[in-house]
Formats: sequence, structure tokens, C-alpha cells
Amino acid sequence: ALVPDSAHGTNPASCTLAGLDVREVKSARNGLLDMKSFREQLSDRVAVMMITNPNTLGLFERDVLTIARELHDHGALLYLDGANLNAIMGVARPGDFGVDVMHLNLHKTFGTPHGGGGPGAGPIAVKDALAPYLPTPVARRDAAGRAFLDDDRPESIGKVRSFYGNVGVMVRAYAYIRALGAEGIREAAERAVLNANYLLRKLAPRYPVPYGERCMHEFVATGEPFLEHGVKTLDIAKRLIDYGMHPPTIYFPLIVREALMIEPTETESRETLDRFADAMLKIAEEAERSPEILLSAPNTTEFSRFDEVAAGRKPRLRFEPSRLF
Ligand SMILES: Cc1ncc(COP(=O)(O)O)c(C=O)c1O
Repeated sequence: ALVPDSAHGTNPASCTLAGLDVREVKSARNGLLDMKSFREQLSDRVAVMMITNPNTLGLFERDVLTIARELHDHGALLYLDGANLNAIMGVARPGDFGVDVMHLNLHKTFGTPHGGGGPGAGPIAVKDALAPYLPTPVARRDAAGRAFLDDDRPESIGKVRSFYGNVGVMVRAYAYIRALGAEGIREAAERAVLNANYLLRKLAPRYPVPYGERCMHEFVATGEPFLEHGVKTLDIAKRLIDYGMHPPTIYFPLIVREALMIEPTETESRETLDRFADAMLKIAEEAERSPEILLSAPNTTEFSRFDEVAAGRKPRLRFEPSRLF
């Protein structure tokens, strides 16, 4: 499987779980896929390429049609990580730009909040040619219009789960799509892109954006200029909590040092965008003048910094009030 160096870690992980060897495709200096690197990796042994479009830098892969054609010429498929569909829904259809299989991250695009730990759900969409292989059961309607679960699919890869997933999330996504309608869905994408570009313009003077002067629904800035004051992106993120804001994704994608991924979505108003930008600009001043405020942040919460390595290595997942009070 081919996976870009800008991909989310879940992409190579999924390919590995599926038993494929992962080969990396490099990004070019403009943040888009490097066609030379892609062609060096492409061969008849490639089964699939997994891309994200717009990519994790918030840039639309302009060569996607050529990439899809060359993959198909080698008998390979194009898989889309749908995490960034928010930027293009109602505007571009992945099937039209050559995608054969994709998942929809409903908790990123269709109304389920991303933060807060889920639950999430990821329906998979495929081109007709792949439909016979979808996992069972498949929900269908009989001749009388009654819905039923079809297990009788001889070419199916079979069951991949012992349960049906987080169905509630699917129902919510469906309701969201029906409520917005075709026009509303497109407008949501346009607003998400507008909001991200608004923030890019406001923040870029203090937080440089190495790839792209304009973005789709997100952009990746860097906290690198503050390293000389002993302040890391982690400290900036923690300080945002003192300003009453949930910190954004940090240190991803890996190709941007001290990465800060800003993805406001369509739901933010001008006021909330300005509030966030003001907080970020104040934090930039603080980082230069009084970095210690950032190093101890969050300062306004009952607990401050956690041992994140220990939390990852020895997770204690049950809430035990007696340990707190
Ligand atoms: C491009 C991309 N792919 C995959 C994921 C993983 O998403 P999930 O929350 O569904 O595990 C993310 C998360 O932000 C992402 O940005």
C-alpha cells in the first residue's frame, strides 16, 4: 500500500492491519504529493493507495486525477480517508476524482462532535465494482419495500465485527444531512473553508504556515518561532485552556515541526473566530515576554499537567471518585 508522509497514523496502521506492506510517498515542497516519489513507488505490486483529500495540510491534491489514472493502470485502487470531507462536500465528489473506496468520519463532517472521545462511526462507501465484496450483513429492501439485513452474499469478505457499530451516530449523521439538504451541505463546506482562511490570515503573521497561502477547511501553522523562548507548541495548546478554549490537534501532520492544526469548522461565528485569534495572538506575546505562564499552563484548572507518557502506557480507564476527593 502507498501512503503519503503527511497521512494520519491511522492510515499506515490500517494498511498494516490488512496485511499490506506500507510504502511512503513524499510530499513536495508545496505540500502536495510529490509525483516523482509516487511514480518511484508505483508498480504492479501496489494494491492500493490511501490518500486524504484535501490533505492533512488543508490543501487539495491537484494531481488526484492523474494519480487515480496511473494507479488504475497498474491494477491498484484509490482509497480516500474521508476525514477532510468537510471542505468539499457538495462541491466535489470523490467518485468523480477517481476514488474507489472511502470511509466517512461522521464525527468530523456530519454533526457528531470531534472532541470528547466519541463515540464515532465510519461507514464505508465503494464503487459498484467493489460492492459484492462489502462485509455482511448489508441493509437492503425487499420487493415489498421492507428493510432487511442481507447475509446471503457469496462474494462478501464476511463479517468484520460482531456488532453493528455505533448506529446512533449514523442516525444523527443522516438527520443532519436531511436537515441541511443539498444547498445547506454545500454552504457548510464553503463556510468551513472561509472560516479557516479567515483564521489563517489573522494568525500567520505570528504562527507561520509553511505550506500554502490559502487553505481548504484547515491549515497547519507552526509554533517553531517560540522555541527560542523555551516554549513548545504543547505549552501554547495548554495555555489556550486558560482562555477557556479546547486546544487544537498538535504535532500532526509529522512533516510540520511544532505543528498546530487549526480546523474551525462551519459552526464558528465571526465572534468566536475573533476570540480564538485574539487568544492565540495574546499567547504569542506571552511566549515572548513571560514564557513561564505558558510553561505552567493550564493555570486555571484544578489539575495542570498530566504525565502523558504514563497515561499512554498505563491507562486507568475507570473513573474512581475516591481517588480524587
Ligand atoms: C486525516 C485523518 N485521518 C484519520 C484520523 C483519525 O480519525 P478517527 O478520529 O476517526 O480515528 C484523523 C483524525 O483527526 C485525521 O485527521
